[in-house]
Amino acid sequence: MTAPSLDFVHQFVPAAPPGAAHGGLTLLLLHGTGGDEHDLLPVGRAVAPGAALLSPRGRVLEGSAPRFFRRLAEGVFDVPDLVARTHELAGFVAAAATGYGFDPARVVALGFSNGANIAASTLLLHPGLLAGAVLLRAMVPFEPDAPVRLPGTPVYLGAGRFDPIIPAANSARLAALLDDSGARTTLEWQPTGHQLAPTELDRVRQWLAASALA
Ligand code: MLT
Repeated sequence: MTAPSLDFVHQFVPAAPPGAAHGGLTLLLLHGTGGDEHDLLPVGRAVAPGAALLSPRGRVLEGSAPRFFRRLAEGVFDVPDLVARTHELAGFVAAAATGYGFDPARVVALGFSNGANIAASTLLLHPGLLAGAVLLRAMVPFEPDAPVRLPGTPVYLGAGRFDPIIPAANSARLAALLDDSGARTTLEWQPTGHQLAPTELDRVRQWLAASALA
């Protein structure tokens, strides 16, 4: 289902009827560089059957590859652009909640790589917008100027032990930043690189169920 009035190209899959598993939850799916709004729909369906799925396409092009914000080099972000794009994404989520009628207090982001980075930025710049987040291969998007308050917000960080893009210290720093803000952070290391490990989505599904998000 698409709504032409919303300013991101996107897919929206309504939630299963109330009473079904994950009813009431909306997963905000944020793809990696070169992906699009279709990429993570099967992932969302697998980790939260019955949840609504809202899946925008990043509006920045790097060559022909969609992204959610500009970067200066791999792992080096154009922070003013990231900040502006984060505000745009937050506005889109709020407009989509009104347009599609889902509960804005029950939105959980699930992002991979570039999508995980803008999800982390959304946590820092719009605390309260997301009820939780699954950040798969995320980096510290920027160091906040002022303390951020995310009391009790559940955040799952999935990191690759051999990730050539994200140094282990950066993943640890992101976990510390979120912990310091009061988030309930779970950092799990996979024996892999930037790509997802075969059993990783099972862990995400279990974590969502255990985090009272479902
Ligand atoms: C990013 O630019 O967000 C990160 O370098 C991850 C990527 O998209 O490759």
